[in-house]
Amino acid sequence: MAVRALWYRGGILSLIDQRALPERTRVLRLRHLTEVAEAIRTLTVRGAPAIGVAAAYGMLLAQREGKLGPDAAARVLRATRPTAVDLFVGVEAVRSVWADGGDVARAAEGYRARTVEECHQIGVSGAPLFRRTRRVLTHCNAGALATVEWGTALAPLRVARAAGAHLFVWVDETRPLLQGSRLTAWELARERIPHAVIADNAAGHYLATGQVDAVIVGADRIARNGDFANKIGTYEKAVVAHENGVPFYVAAPWSTFDARRKDGRSIPVEERAEEEVLALAGRRTAPLRSHARNPAFDVTPSRYVTAFVTPSGIVRPRDLPRVLSERSRE
Ligand code: MRU
Repeated sequence: MAVRALWYRGGILSLIDQRALPERTRVLRLRHLTEVAEAIRTLTVRGAPAIGVAAAYGMLLAQREGKLGPDAAARVLRATRPTAVDLFVGVEAVRSVWADGGDVARAAEGYRARTVEECHQIGVSGAPLFRRTRRVLTHCNAGALATVEWGTALAPLRVARAAGAHLFVWVDETRPLLQGSRLTAWELARERIPHAVIADNAAGHYLATGQVDAVIVGADRIARNGDFANKIGTYEKAVVAHENGVPFYVAAPWSTFDARRKDGRSIPVEERAEEEVLALAGRRTAPLRSHARNPAFDVTPSRYVTAFVTPSGIVRPRDLPRVLSERSRE
C-alpha cells in the first residue's frame, strides 16, 4: 500500500513519526511553527523534498498563529538543517506569497502538490532504466517517506515494477540513524518488493562481485556542475560503482537543484550530535570516554554520476549546466 509521509487539514499538519518506524506507525499532529521546526531538526520528518513540504506548511501554521511575520518565521525554519536546499525552497515559496499579502494556504498546498507531481514524473522518466535491470542498490531512504509520496530513488523502481519489471533491491542500512534498514526496507516490505538489508560496509563486496546492476540514490543538494550532497556514505558507493562499471543514478525534483552553486565545494554539510554514532537504538556501543564525529552528508563529484533522473527526463552531468540555465529563463 502506498505511503504518504504527511498531510494537512484544517490547521493541523499530520506526519508519520519517522523515528518510531518500523516498530510503530505513529502519527503526530502539529499546530505550531515551533513544533514543525523541532520535527525537522529531530528527523521526525526527513528527506529533502519532505522537509521542504513540511517547512512550507510550517510557514502556513506560523501565519495562522499570528505571532511572527513572514521573515521571522522563515528564519526559525531555515535554522533547522543546513544541507537540503529543498527546505529553503519550500520556505521561500510561502514566505514570498505571505510577504506580498497573497494566499498562504494556497502557496503551501501548491508546493506540496508540485513536489508530489515531480516525484511521480521522476518515476515515469526513470522507469525505462530499470526495465532490464534486476538488482539495484540504494542508500538511505529516498522513498515516499522522504518526499511525501512516490520517492525520488524509489519512484522509478515503483513505476518499473508496476509495468512488470522483476526487481531486487539491496538496501544499505545507513548508519548512524538506519534510514535504509528502518525506512526503505519498511516501504519495500509493505509493497512486497524483494530486497535485502546489507551493512553499509558490504556494498563494496556486492558491487565488486557483479551482484549489483545499478545504483540509484536521492540527493539533498545538487550544484550546477552536478556535484551533489546526499546521506553520508554515498560518495563511497559512487566511487566503488564507478570502479566496477556499474551505472550510478541520482534522482531528484527541481527543488533539489541549486543552480547558484557552481560546484559541490560550498555545499554546507550538517554535523549532528556525536551520540548518534556512539549509541545504537538508544544503547551506548562505544566506551564512555570515546568521542565521535558525525557528518550527516557527503559530497560526490559529478564525474561519478551516470545520469540525473529528473521530472523532465534523464540528464547527463555534462548537460546539467545548460538544462538549469534554460529552466531559469522559462
Ligand atoms: O538526514 P536525512 O534522513 O534527512 O537524509 C536524507 C537523505 O540523505 C536522502 O537520501 C535525500 O534527502 C534524498 S530524499 C528523496
